[in-house]
Amino acid sequence: MATEVRARLSVKLAELTPGDIDAFFFTNGGAEANENAIRIARMFSGRHKIGARYRSYHGGTAGALTLTGDPRRWAAEPGIPGVFRIPDFYHGIQRGSETTEEVLARTEEVLELEGPKTVAALIVEPVTGTNGILIPPDGYMQGLRALCDKYGILLIADEVMAGFGRTGKWFSVDHWNVVPDLISMAKGLTSAYVQLGAVGMRRHIADHFEKNVFYGGLTYNSHPLACAAALATIAVYEEDDLIENARRMGEVMQRMLADLQSRHPSVGETRNIGLFGIVEVVRNRETREPMAPFNGSSPEMQELGKLFRQEGLYTFVRWNTFFTNPPLCITEEELTEAFAIIDKGLEITDRAV
Ligand SMILES: Cc1ncc(COP(=O)(O)O)c(C=O)c1O
Repeated sequence: MATEVRARLSVKLAELTPGDIDAFFFTNGGAEANENAIRIARMFSGRHKIGARYRSYHGGTAGALTLTGDPRRWAAEPGIPGVFRIPDFYHGIQRGSETTEEVLARTEEVLELEGPKTVAALIVEPVTGTNGILIPPDGYMQGLRALCDKYGILLIADEVMAGFGRTGKWFSVDHWNVVPDLISMAKGLTSAYVQLGAVGMRRHIADHFEKNVFYGGLTYNSHPLACAAALATIAVYEEDDLIENARRMGEVMQRMLADLQSRHPSVGETRNIGLFGIVEVVRNRETREPMAPFNGSSPEMQELGKLFRQEGLYTFVRWNTFFTNPPLCITEEELTEAFAIIDKGLEITDRAV
């Protein structure tokens, strides 16, 4: 059945998403959005392989977890067939980032070795979320788009975490004016009040499914309650100018992050784009040895997390990093209050330097 809220939500999303993306398949969350993105890409292209990066998270279901590169994938292996890795541009606090040219050349080499005509799609988080707020070097997203065009491969943008204003624009791909073929979303779509995800597709892909059956179905597909929550949420983003607030407060947060780095020897690096931020904590500024190993913790990071919770600052502490991803409605005063707690916490890790 068609419902009015679903139609209104689709029209609204077509307005907000990049380029000619104007058809949406609604799911119960982000992982299902990515599962259906895989299926759409395979059915549309007639090819089967999907390339994804190691430093990524795409969801907790079979296909999405196979796409996922981080250790959350390991327990679900071997996973679904046909997934291969494309290069990361970031290699951890000690090795840093590659240039756009280097990473794109290595990506093209991987495509040649895999056989580009066997590749249905590449999936990336345009700005990586839980794997470290990785902001791509300029030209990377455009270069990935060009490689996909050259070989007839679809580009899937996983905007589940970075979408809906988190980075100071509606979608993080908007920072590079790139139009992906498929875009997956969830979380901010309803501000997570009600479970809803979606995969959006460009017009020529939607047209393909006018003539070809899409073998996908979910009992709760386009649930009116969730669609209504999404419409109401988007109205609040607009009425309260929250995307612009994220951009403006992102600039304030950048100054606060830089200030932490100038005063705390255990702050190795900070990154943010809008209200999507992270602090990488190190034991040694020269060697940039992380305060906790990859996929591990340390007494100092645990103590830091404990102090944050005790002081009422709820944030994600992972390995040698912690995230600064406040609500999009945050004010400068509230950011100042939060950063005062961070300041206090970093005295713990400074002592280990
Ligand atoms: C980038 C990204 N993609 C996909 C997902 C999966 O979304 P969900 O948990 O709604 O299935 C997440 C969730 O953390 C995510 O961060």
